[in-house]
Amino acid sequence: MCNETLAQGDEVGQFYQQLCRELQTLICFEPDWLANLTNTAALLYHTLADINWAGFYLYKQGHLVLGPFQGQPACVRIALGQGVCGAAATQGKTLVVPNVHQFAGHIACDSTSQAEIVVPWCDDDQLIGVLDIDSPKLARFNTTDARGLEQVVALLNRYAKPGGIGTEG
Ligand code: SME
Repeated sequence: MCNETLAQGDEVGQFYQQLCRELQTLICFEPDWLANLTNTAALLYHTLADINWAGFYLYKQGHLVLGPFQGQPACVRIALGQGVCGAAATQGKTLVVPNVHQFAGHIACDSTSQAEIVVPWCDDDQLIGVLDIDSPKLARFNTTDARGLEQVVALLNRYAKPGGIGTEG
């Protein structure tokens, strides 16, 4: 279900290197994982250009359940394999969708969304959830976004893992 691969250096891009530095500063001293997830969603929402939703779905008993996010209210529960989120979680790889209307089974939560990227969040092959970001702009996301957002998720594994060392919840 999970195949975590981390990019290094230029592949991540300077924008994401800076964003990850800001994120690390924001979450590294706070032990509460939910607070850290919430601030991560806020940082992404207010830092990335041309997006209309940024947040998390957390894996619970066969479903992805809505977690901390910024944007319009969204669908609460997604079965594994359903939608872009469920597909990314099942395949264990980041999905970059240039046009959500051409993705079979896409779940529309905000009618203005045109493009989407979903990064699975895994630890030691255990699915924790997904990071989901929507854009009103077609083809908004590319491989730099994919590698950069995978680094964001790697930071969450370090500082915001449910039940991990130094965390509560
Ligand atoms: N579009 C997602 C559903 C979640 S919303 O985008 C917030 C999907 O197809 O899984």
